[in-house]
Amino acid sequence: MPLEFSPKAREHIDRLLTRYPTRQATLLGVLYVAQDEFGYLSDEALALVAATLDLPLSHVFGVATFYTLFLRQPPARYPLHVCTNLGCSLRGGHDVLRHLEKRLGIAPGQTTPDGLFSLGEEDGLGGCAYAPTMTCGSHHYVSLTHEKVDKVIDELRQQASETGFERRSLPLAPAQGAPTLPDCAGSGSGYRQTPGLKIVTSNFGVRDIQKLGVYRAQGGWQAFGKALDMGRERVVEEVKKSNLRGRGGAGFPAGVKWGFLPKNAERVYLVCNGDESEPGTFKDRVLLGSDPHLLVESVAISAFALRCTHAFIYIRGELRREAGIVQAAVDETYAAGLLGQERASANGPFKLDITVHLGAGAYICGEETAMLESIEGKRGYPRNKPPFPAIKGLFGQPTVVNNVETLMNVPDIVTRGGDWFAKAGMGKSGGTRLLCVSGHVKRPGVYELPMGISFRELIYEICGGIPQGRVLRGVIPGGSSMPPLAADEIDVPIEFDALTSDPRIKDVEVRPGVPFDLGGGRRLKTMAGSGGVVVFDDSTDVVALCARIMRFYAHESCGQCTPCREGTGWLARLCTRLAEGEGRPGDIDLLADVANGIAGNSICALGDAAAWPMLGFLTKFRADFEARLAKAGKTS
Ligand SMILES: Cc1cc2nc3c(=O)[nH]c(=O)nc-3n(C[C@H](O)[C@H](O)[C@H](O)COP(=O)(O)O)c2cc1C
Ligand code: SF4
Ligand code: FES
Repeated sequence: MPLEFSPKAREHIDRLLTRYPTRQATLLGVLYVAQDEFGYLSDEALALVAATLDLPLSHVFGVATFYTLFLRQPPARYPLHVCTNLGCSLRGGHDVLRHLEKRLGIAPGQTTPDGLFSLGEEDGLGGCAYAPTMTCGSHHYVSLTHEKVDKVIDELRQQASETGFERRSLPLAPAQGAPTLPDCAGSGSGYRQTPGLKIVTSNFGVRDIQKLGVYRAQGGWQAFGKALDMGRERVVEEVKKSNLRGRGGAGFPAGVKWGFLPKNAERVYLVCNGDESEPGTFKDRVLLGSDPHLLVESVAISAFALRCTHAFIYIRGELRREAGIVQAAVDETYAAGLLGQERASANGPFKLDITVHLGAGAYICGEETAMLESIEGKRGYPRNKPPFPAIKGLFGQPTVVNNVETLMNVPDIVTRGGDWFAKAGMGKSGGTRLLCVSGHVKRPGVYELPMGISFRELIYEICGGIPQGRVLRGVIPGGSSMPPLAADEIDVPIEFDALTSDPRIKDVEVRPGVPFDLGGGRRLKTMAGSGGVVVFDDSTDVVALCARIMRFYAHESCGQCTPCREGTGWLARLCTRLAEGEGRPGDIDLLADVANGIAGNSICALGDAAAWPMLGFLTKFRADFEARLAKAGKTS
């Protein structure tokens, strides 16, 4: 019998069709519906999706095979995914993986002969504060030890025998194909309270703040009312004055970006970037899950200021639980008449729709133009620029993309004024900063802190120092794409401009004494990036850590441009063979040459994201790479 959607699934698809301006844009959502309904995306399921949306099957196939969360084969009953990215690898993630390999008798990518377990290596699950972590369907296991893992396996076997498991039965929880952390609100989220000014986390700890009534009782939606009265020009002016810098990675001034939109555009889109996949970064997950109504209000105010009548909130596919929390907040806001209905404003009637869009497992979709493609129901291939999104973005219209944390500062800027926000910060960086700290510190977690705090204060005062009496070796300052700092460079403030220019930070070099040219003779030190601070001590195998980063970027390269596609693969292979003691003479210089060849020569910044840390590690930790060659009886 041909496959058919159940009435409930059809209803879900009909709802999706009302949320997007084109049928194709619903594709990721409809693929999720099909996967939830049938357990995986068989050829028949893809054909059904294509027919339902009236799209070519080749397009549907192309999209389904691009995103890692879409399954083309029936999964094992218990698909185990162990995270081995930075935070987890520094806390024993690889060890947990090896233990499971032995225990189950399979390697990553394999399934046990009885179809009960499969094993996979995962690239960061947002639980870095609880590393090492592992998922099984919708369950997220944290702070793993061998004993804990053994217990999990025993319990799952027991469960399977009690429920009469048969080979090829559907997965445990097909309707929730993505992992969630045990508790995303309040203290279980990885957020840690500290004294001092709080802006984006000011409601944390308020019971039931995820409910609109509670949010409004805390003063929620007053800033929106004020913005409507002020009029959009004044809101934009306050954001410009506030020195709000983008928290997604580049630190670009939000007010300046907003000013790029053409004044006469008929339709404008705002996209809130909640893709958060940069290794070491897990702050947006906490914000999305803990205070969703602040996000919705922030998007509403920003949309009003930008003349946008339909905004999108893009959420990383792995954060399906958080997406559900945000969707519930959006639904509640519609029901209260705050969305979807006209409101009077100083600029006339204003009506806004918000669509929550779930990604499906592709780091590259955090890049803003890849994200736009993904929302349009396509593979997440970054676009050539120009034209920039502000001129031609989502569905061909002028578009602003801003990070979750960036936007969540806007209500306070409206309420307290741009000058207040600017003063609360440091230099040309207004406000506070969310920092997510993982790796070798006693108290990993997400902190809202003053903009100018130094790494030394962060590591030793806020996070309690390095465990087990170990000594600091280095710090990755803002997600894995940023060049690392050596232990003697940690007295600089964690502020956007300081990290690019402070003379206490050494320039990144291509060869010893030869500075890397960022373009036009500009030098690279490091950047504040996405706020993901990864701390590593003197027990760390620095070459292996660097190799892990390179494997991540090689895996995530979309393959469109040659320097990135080929170059990231070379970086991963060369660095891994060095780490494994198989390096050859000349490998260190070759690594530097390849990285130098990628940087600045690719369509999007993923190429730089691999090249910069590679050159940074070679600059700051060259002796480790040379020692690895020497140990193998070779010289560089
Ligand atoms: C490979 C790549 C991945 C990115 N991932 C993210 C991400 O997960 N979240 C994010 O906010 N920005 C990410 N960015 C930056 C976005 O392209 C964009 O600059 C940002 O969302 C703009 O918001 P902001 O100005 O508020 O920072 C990424 C960029 C690149 C090149
Ligand atoms: S730089 Fe890499 S990820 Fe970006 S478009 Fe080119 S191949 Fe794709
Ligand atoms: S959860 Fe593993 S590195 Fe973040």
